[in-house]
Amino acid sequence: MLKDLIDKSRRIVFVTGAGISTSCGIPDFRSSEGIYTSWLTPLMFSSRLFNVFPWWFYHKARPLYGNIIAAKPSAAHKAIAELGRTKHVTVVTQNVDGLHQKAGSRKVYELHGTLKLATCQRCRSKHPIEACETPGTVPRCACCGGVLKPDIVFFGDDVPTEAWLGGCEAVETADLIVVCGTSLRVSTAADMLALRHMNAKLAIVNKAPTSLDYAADLVLHQDIDEALKDIV
Ligand code: OAD
Repeated sequence: MLKDLIDKSRRIVFVTGAGISTSCGIPDFRSSEGIYTSWLTPLMFSSRLFNVFPWWFYHKARPLYGNIIAAKPSAAHKAIAELGRTKHVTVVTQNVDGLHQKAGSRKVYELHGTLKLATCQRCRSKHPIEACETPGTVPRCACCGGVLKPDIVFFGDDVPTEAWLGGCEAVETADLIVVCGTSLRVSTAADMLALRHMNAKLAIVNKAPTSLDYAADLVLHQDIDEALKDIV
């Protein structure tokens, strides 16, 4: 059982993906109801395309923003935060929704950035994400007129160094890693998991099978809120 593994562990890392936020009304990417409805949709997160056609990104992505910014943490986000009050818990997430922090988790590494801020592509000044909300326009910097881009990692962008190094250290030193709600189809988290210690335990909680199921000590193909409800 997951709780048994947790009770026996001192340093626990939760590696999370979009599946932990679906019960908050935020769709994941690759499920049948996910954001990626065709081979074309992932291109909206291409940094090369953004540099040429920023309007296309805003046209596709803006309707998703409202949901994400207004979302409240799920039972699973709250359970992880609660566990962090009594155990050494680190969260490494591919999500940009900030829900782990909203739930109260303190040590969170955001591998794919955050939807809290946007950066001017010309003068690099920072702006609150609300500056990107006006429908039908490409948001521009009030100082220099440059295009604003949310601080999320697009395909072709570097992963933020601090999050990457912090996540790697957490994974290397963990005695339990719990993977929650990620298909592991993107290399950021999948590569990081290769750094786990050979004695570390691995648990995977995900509705669909993942490419690491074969190596896990525990695999739960079930709803995350359900699976995490008794971990504290
Ligand atoms: P995916 O959509 O690839 O995978 C989400 C997984 O969560 C799926 O395998 C679902 O089966 C599972 N899932 C969904 N809801 C669940 C629930 N309530 N309980 C249990 N499992 C559930 O999302 P990620 O792996 O997070 O990157 O995607 C990784 C990256 O791909 C994203 O960060 C994003 C995307 O391209 C960028 O945009 C750079």
